[in-house]
Amino acid sequence: MLVLENVTKSYDGKENAVDRLSLTVKAGEIFGFIGPNGAGKTTTIKMITGISAPTSGRILINGIDLAASPVEAKLNFTYVPDHPEIFSSIRGIDYLNFIADMYEIPVAQRRARVEKYAKTFALYDELDRLISVYSHGMKQKLLICGALLPNPRLFILDEPLVGLDPLAAKKLKDIMREHCRQGGTVFFSSHLLDVVENICDRVAVINKGRLVACDRLETIKEESGHNLEQIFLELTKDA
Ligand SMILES: Nc1ncnc2c1ncn2[C@@H]1O[C@H](COP(=O)(O)OP(=O)(O)OP(=O)(O)O)[C@@H](O)[C@H]1O
Ligand SMILES: [Mg+2]
Repeated sequence: MLVLENVTKSYDGKENAVDRLSLTVKAGEIFGFIGPNGAGKTTTIKMITGISAPTSGRILINGIDLAASPVEAKLNFTYVPDHPEIFSSIRGIDYLNFIADMYEIPVAQRRARVEKYAKTFALYDELDRLISVYSHGMKQKLLICGALLPNPRLFILDEPLVGLDPLAAKKLKDIMREHCRQGGTVFFSSHLLDVVENICDRVAVINKGRLVACDRLETIKEESGHNLEQIFLELTKDA
């Protein structure tokens, strides 16, 4: 579903923020992407989502080369960024309709889906208000609703649980699991190792731009005999 081949990013010709990163995320799995601050997680996600071009390497989404066919590739995923920077001068409902228009979701279907997700995240009664008056968590939840609306094959999230209240976090984790049960794929970064340990099928660890582990969680734990926190600290002790 998602393939990275030797993906490298150098900002301003400096040391590579992401260095020859190769990984494959299979359809139907929840894939956790972890690593210390500054390791290159957001940079990688920005390249996967086409926000930032790799310096070298190739990204395939559902078999489509992102650089060669960006729009076609992008129709296969939606994305929730780490900071909910979002149009502030429109209402929540306008934002969701905009997303629905972009993904050409029929009107009848979009009403039902907007209601479902906005109610799930206790946002339904806020949709007529301007985004500028939303709290940080409300903006985050609006972005999540927008990303869920098109029912994407691949759901990409950068530190999605930061800023969410415990109920919203639980609902999002349930949705991520359900999405995969129905054949969808989730790729997300997080610093919450207990969450990663609980919901991921496979995990990749990045340190200083390089992949230092990528495997099934059980395999990594069995091989080392440690929990994910101990493994993380060992793999990234030079960070
Ligand atoms: N726009 C930019 N210009 C120059 N350097 C950048 C830029 N964005 C990120 N970097 C650098 O790239 C490296 C990786 O940063 P990135 O944001 O990808 O880390 P991260 O793993 O997401 O960290 P965090 O856990 O803090 O979110 C860091 O050294 C950072 O300073
Ligand atoms: Mg980041």
